[in-house]
Amino acid sequence: MSATEIASTAPNKQGYRSFGLGAFHFSRDEYFVHIDWPTGKHVLSADVFLRALQRDVAWDFFYGTVNFDAVFGTVNHYGTVDMFAGRFNEAYRKAELDHTENFDTTDIRETFKAMLEDWTNQGFDPFASPEETDKPFGVKDGSNTAAITRRRVAAQRMVGVPGDEQIRTDATHPINRMFADVAQDEPELYPEPGFEDEVCAYSLFAYLSRSDVTWNPSVVSVCKASLYCPTTEEYILPIFHGNDRVEWFVQLSDEITWEVQDRDTGSPRAKVTMRAGDVAAMPGDIRHQGYSPKRSMLLVWENASPELPELIRTGQASVYPVDF
Ligand code: PHB
Ligand code: FE
Repeated sequence: MSATEIASTAPNKQGYRSFGLGAFHFSRDEYFVHIDWPTGKHVLSADVFLRALQRDVAWDFFYGTVNFDAVFGTVNHYGTVDMFAGRFNEAYRKAELDHTENFDTTDIRETFKAMLEDWTNQGFDPFASPEETDKPFGVKDGSNTAAITRRRVAAQRMVGVPGDEQIRTDATHPINRMFADVAQDEPELYPEPGFEDEVCAYSLFAYLSRSDVTWNPSVVSVCKASLYCPTTEEYILPIFHGNDRVEWFVQLSDEITWEVQDRDTGSPRAKVTMRAGDVAAMPGDIRHQGYSPKRSMLLVWENASPELPELIRTGQASVYPVDF
């Protein structure tokens, strides 16, 4: 299949196209998304599927595994992507009903983008909290291209320095209803002459208070492989993220409860409640999903070194940041 060929059908009676990739087949109706593959079939609520699909597309398959739910998802091999059903589900594995196929990233990306575009109705924003968007259900009703193609902030050096994304303002990013109490004053800076392009500071709290998306880490600073990826969270992380490396969480405000499971089987490992100021390291062999009852600010600290998954796989690096 070439990069631009997408296997899809004419609209069904609800107005939605169906899509195929390898032996996987996807269709949607008013409420549900149906997936089938040679050894099985599965159904997800359209909101769950679209919120997860939006993250997989926007993050270009992220680090490691993106589980849409306990059955379906993707594994990033950074150049190719596995699409799977039942692979990280002990019952499917035991019954030998799991199925995995590997695709060039371009092919799966283009299919996922086309599916997201066709199945997202006007008024539904998969990045928004449920309180801030219409429902995704019903027969096909327009599209919401602007919302689903938002460009994620990805600084080359740091937000605010020349060449990188600029600070948010009322005109572009009004303060979110839940962060009305966040102070908006900015630090005063007095760089030495000649260093105006090198010295920079801004209020990360003020910046995050203006985020219009949820569960969508942006890259605000880069120091070699060390990425600061803060995000604002409300309701439920739309995926179970399966790690291929350690990642750190710094809870900047409010509270998130994390459901932590074994990455490969899904068996429960921990429930972690993080309150403002709490710091946690998520091991490299787990999957996790967060619950944020009120909009909160979270700093995700990633080590983007490309060699990490292989070092962990071959036992040269630990799945824990510190071995006590
Ligand atoms: C994560 O999987 O670590 C993750 C993803 C998205 C977020 C926060 C955390 O918004
Ligand atoms: Fe994660």
